[in-house]
Amino acid sequence: MKKRRILVTGGTGYIGAHTVVELINSGYEPIIVDNLSNSNISVLDGVNSIVGFKPLFEQVDCSDFEDFESVFSKYDNIEATIHFAAFKAVGESVEKPMLYYKNNLQSLLNLIELSLKYSVGSIVFSSSCTVYGQPDKDHLPVSESAPLQPAQSPYGKTKQMCEEILKDIAYANGDSIKVISLRYFNPIGAHPSSQIGELPLGIPQNLLPFVTQTAAGIRDIISVFGDDYNTPDGSCIRDYIYVCDLAKAHVASIQRLLNDREKMDGSIEFFNLGTGNGMSVLDILRIFMKANGLEVPYKIAPRRAGDVEQVWADPSKANEILGWSADTPIEDVMRSAWNWEKKIRGLK
Ligand code: NAD
Ligand code: WQD
Repeated sequence: MKKRRILVTGGTGYIGAHTVVELINSGYEPIIVDNLSNSNISVLDGVNSIVGFKPLFEQVDCSDFEDFESVFSKYDNIEATIHFAAFKAVGESVEKPMLYYKNNLQSLLNLIELSLKYSVGSIVFSSSCTVYGQPDKDHLPVSESAPLQPAQSPYGKTKQMCEEILKDIAYANGDSIKVISLRYFNPIGAHPSSQIGELPLGIPQNLLPFVTQTAAGIRDIISVFGDDYNTPDGSCIRDYIYVCDLAKAHVASIQRLLNDREKMDGSIEFFNLGTGNGMSVLDILRIFMKANGLEVPYKIAPRRAGDVEQVWADPSKANEILGWSADTPIEDVMRSAWNWEKKIRGLK
């Protein structure tokens, strides 16, 4: 039987590559579209060693209409797109807002125009819990109906703007374009095979890559940004979700768009993707060290500007409607992160 084709923009990136593996495992044929601006072609070898073949790949810039169109005209029967392609560094977006507005908005606008032109009726969009900002105490854990807050960075604003654009497009086009927007909380970990994982460029800004690099001796010590927040241990609270669990939610979203389209609540749906458990920075350090039998040097440092104190997901809508949940034990996630770091550093 012919496999159903799914375009995966940003498919050699961190979350994209894990999703490509899950799509293949579920019988789909992903076509990766990536300009390799924040990923490496060797990711295809990693995918190959997990699934036994290299997925289809096109080195294309989604923000360039003609370049992107070449993919739609080359492949027929594309049924849906999962749109990961975007720049994602919060700090850099403050320094270089134009870069973020141009890349993240133009790529989405091109995708929409091409989806309409080539009758590709389904889009899964990578959104972020950043749209919630710091929810009030009575909105924690945060559900999809919580009020959105003005974003703190141009990056966050691009996610809000993209959601608004998608809403208008979905409403205006009825059944011909349906959208699922997935609001990720904090993705962490790597594939259990250690063949794919996160490859941060330069000094990592995110917690887990900094922890694994410190454990590997690449960084001397990790700073815990603030221990005087109004949380049980004083450090910030997040909802850390395993990247393979996150990837599976994309497959569930594709299945809903393709097979249960009529069950959708309107033309666009939003889902929180998290575990439902808030964990502090100090919790993460403790669990990482225990799960891997390691000591990681850390110090308490001043608060990081712009950090939200605490946010974690109410994922019940995704649990019920997508039939999905993030249930990999956190200890296994921590081991996967360390095994990946060891693999890329050639450590035993
Ligand atoms: P990533 O940087 O690893 O992957 C993004 C991929 O998109 C990269 O391979 C990059 O080369 C590619 N890309 C960027 N611009 C492109 C363009 N114009 N044309 C083609 N390819 C392009 O990031 P990720 O962590 O895998 O994130 C994927 C998506 O999820 C992004 O949209 C990001 O904003 C969103 N997201 C990520 C997180 C997180 O913490 N990782 C949290 C919430 C949302
Ligand atoms: C987590 C916690 C830090 C590094 C960012 C984006 C967000 C989303 C996910 C895309 C915080 C603390 C970190 C360190 C630390 N991305 N920390 N020492 O800030 O929740 O979210 O990534 O959409 O938009 O803003 O994630 O991993 O940077 O930080 O103490 O060296 O770890 O203060 O409390 P964050 P993070």
